[in-house]
Amino acid sequence: MDKLVISGGRPLKGEISVSGAKNAILPLMAASLLTGGWHQFENVPQLRDIRTFCTLLESMGADIRCEEPLCINTDNVSRLEAPYDLVKTMRASVLVLGPMVARFKKARVSLPGGCAIGARPINLHIKGLEALGVNIELRHGYVEAKAKRLTGTHIYLDLVTVTGTENLMMAATLAEGTTVLENAAKEPEVVDLANYLKTLGAKIKGAGTPIITIEGVKELNTPSPYRVIPDRIEAGTLLVAAGITGGEITITNCIPAHLETVIHKLQETGMTFEIGENWVKAKSPEIISSADVKTLPFPGFPTDMQAQFMALMCLADGVSVITEQIFENRFMHVSELRRLGADISIDGRTAVVKGVKELLGAKVMATDLRASASLVLAGLAAKGTTEVSRVYHLDRGYDRLEKKLSALGANIVRVKE
Ligand code: EPU
Repeated sequence: MDKLVISGGRPLKGEISVSGAKNAILPLMAASLLTGGWHQFENVPQLRDIRTFCTLLESMGADIRCEEPLCINTDNVSRLEAPYDLVKTMRASVLVLGPMVARFKKARVSLPGGCAIGARPINLHIKGLEALGVNIELRHGYVEAKAKRLTGTHIYLDLVTVTGTENLMMAATLAEGTTVLENAAKEPEVVDLANYLKTLGAKIKGAGTPIITIEGVKELNTPSPYRVIPDRIEAGTLLVAAGITGGEITITNCIPAHLETVIHKLQETGMTFEIGENWVKAKSPEIISSADVKTLPFPGFPTDMQAQFMALMCLADGVSVITEQIFENRFMHVSELRRLGADISIDGRTAVVKGVKELLGAKVMATDLRASASLVLAGLAAKGTTEVSRVYHLDRGYDRLEKKLSALGANIVRVKE
C-alpha cells in the first residue's frame, strides 16, 4: 500500500492542466454496452476506477484497449453480469444495468452495499427500469433484470440521482416510444453522456434541465471518437490547494461554467479569480475568511467538494457551518482533520468549523476518495510532515494528484508502506 508524505507550508505556484472527468467517463464506458463497434474516448484520466470498469467490461466479453484513447468494443459481450467482487469496489458498476437490459433484455448486477459515505440505495434506478417494463427480482444479493421489450413512459424521480438519471437515460434510448425523466439530475456529466448518446443517434432533449425527454430508437449508429469533459472536482480541488497554501495558480483545460458555484464560494473566502475561456487563475488572500456552505445537486455546491472546502475552512478566520445534504455519512475526514489540529464539531449532517491559526503535520488515514483529497490539502498547509496512508482511495479518482501538486511546487512524495 502506498502513502503520501507531505512537507507542508509551500505556496503553490504555476500552471496545471485538468484531466478528464471520472464521473463522465464511467457512464460513457457503460454506454458502450448499448451498441457494437469501436467506442473511442479521448482525454481519459489514469484512474483505478477506470481500470476496474475495464475489468468489468472485459469480464462480460468486451474487447478493450485501456490506453489513450480508450477503445471499447462490445460486439462479443455475452456474459451479462456485474459480479459482487467488482461492484463492491466500485459502485459506478451499477451503470451497466440500464444499457445491458436495453440491448440484451437481460442483466444480472450485484446490489451495491452501503459505502463509506452513506447507504446509497439504488431503488430509484430499479423503480424507473420497472416503469420501462423491465421485470426485476432481487435474488442472492443480485438485481436480476429481464424484459421482453422496454416501453417509453413518464418517470418522476423522487430524489435527484446522478447515476440513476444516467442509467434510465441509457435504457430509454432503445425503448419503444418516448420516455420523460422528471426531476432529473442536471450535472455536467449527465449532459456529457447525453451528448455522446446523441452522437450514436439517440434522440434526447433537455439534458442539463430537470426534464429530459428521450425518444427511443430501434438501433444506434456506429460510434465516432468522443472527448470527455474535464473533471470539475479535480479542478475545484486544485483551486482549494492554491487557497490553502497561500498560492497563486492557473488551471487550464477546464470548463469555468462547471465551476461557477465553487468559484463563488471561494470568492467568499477572499480568494480572487481571473477567468478565461478554458482556464481559471486563482489567488489566495492574506487571510482566508470563513464561509458557510450547504451541498446540493448541480448547480449547487457539490458534495464531492465538501471535504476539500472543509480543509480550507480549518484555517479560516472565523467559524463556518458546513451542511452535507446529499449523503448521510460524509464527514469521515473530520476525525482525521482533527488529528492535524482542526477544531470541528459535528451535529448530524452539520459540521461547525472554528478556524485555527495553524495545522500541524501528523499521520492520517484516508477513508474515501474526497476525504483523502481533503487530507492532502490540509497536509500541504500544515507545519511539518503529514503522512496520508491508504492512498488507493485517492487513486480511484485523481489522476496522479501528487505529480500535479509537485509540479506546482508542493513537497509531496509517494512512498511504499
Ligand atoms: N439515492 C437514493 N436512491 C437511489 C439513488 C440515489 O436514495 O436509487 C440517494 C443517495 O443515497 C444519495 C442521493 O440520492 O443520498 C444522491 O445520490 P446519487 O444517486 O446522485 O449519487 P450517485 O449517482 O451514486 C454520483 C457520483 C458521486 C457523487 C454523487 C452526487 C458517479 C459515478 N458518482 O453518485 O461521486 O458524489 O453523484 O453528486 O457519478 C465521487 O466522485 O467521489 C462520488 C462519490
